[in-house]
Amino acid sequence: MAILDLPKPAAQLYERVSRVIPPFEWPAFEADIEAILELKRERDAIILAHNYQSPEIFHCVADVVGDSLALAREAAKGDARVIVMAGVHFMAETAKLLNPSKTVVIPDADAGCSLAESIAPEDIRLLREAYPGAPVVTYVNTSAAVKAASDICCTSANAVRVVESLGVPRVVMTPDEYLAKNVAAQTKVEIVAWRGRCEVHEQFTAADIRELREAYPGAVVLAHPECPPEVVAEADFAGSTADMIGYVGAKRPARVALVTECSMSDNVSVHYPDVEFVRPCALCPHMKRITLGKIRHALETMEGEVTIDPSIAAPARRAVERMLAL
Ligand code: 13P
Ligand code: SF4
Repeated sequence: MAILDLPKPAAQLYERVSRVIPPFEWPAFEADIEAILELKRERDAIILAHNYQSPEIFHCVADVVGDSLALAREAAKGDARVIVMAGVHFMAETAKLLNPSKTVVIPDADAGCSLAESIAPEDIRLLREAYPGAPVVTYVNTSAAVKAASDICCTSANAVRVVESLGVPRVVMTPDEYLAKNVAAQTKVEIVAWRGRCEVHEQFTAADIRELREAYPGAVVLAHPECPPEVVAEADFAGSTADMIGYVGAKRPARVALVTECSMSDNVSVHYPDVEFVRPCALCPHMKRITLGKIRHALETMEGEVTIDPSIAAPARRAVERMLAL
């Protein structure tokens, strides 16, 4: 997570991204960036951007950037009246849960997530019947209604800690099957997994990693724990998007491959010109629905406001806050 400097005129901002945005593409962004910087002041708004957002959003208009956990934590702080979530819908809902009195807008309400789509509150109730007494740990990549039916949330950055904090021999983990299996490999707690998948990370295979190592000798391979366990087993390190960034910053490998969404390498490489980034990426179509034009439109019109039924918000907030309290 990083908090960016005070806004600068768009032309100066280009210096930040000149290594990842070609000069002929920049004029298409400039007017929207200038307008967004001005609108943020007028609206008393901040922009939270996930690490998968495109560089012109991540580096040029965001106030706070990070992984799901950092965005949830940051959403709980600060006194701006408006939060614009440059991310997907469940992230905007989490920001709203933690800021019931603020206006939270998402620039494209259709920015979903295959994991969030994979499970409904009724599924959680059936899991409770099938595994009586086992607490339900739910990944933040879910709707508020699913969080409300769960005992506690987790992110990929804290999943093992959350599972072990419960002090029980068995938990149900939803909805990401691969995250659950990757957590199971790191704990003695028995994990019952749901069968949701991230449509981006499920695409990577162990053979991809082996081929990458042959093609790019010496590359250090970092994978997101939403990847299949055999991919994580082939990697040198697995962690949340923020954990991957932390690894690159701390270890400065000469050559690194981030096995995750495409914009990550672009965004991180800006800070580490000495590191060569191999880019075995896959695009998240949901994250890519968010554009500068839509952020500008959201700030101009305040369309895309996120609301959550109070009867769902209260228990969902409890599950998120229980995680944040750890
Ligand atoms: P992080 O919490 O690691 O940023 O992951 C969020 C996500 O959607 C990954 O696909
Ligand atoms: Fe969901 Fe996967 Fe996209 Fe993350 S990368 S938002 S888990 S579909």
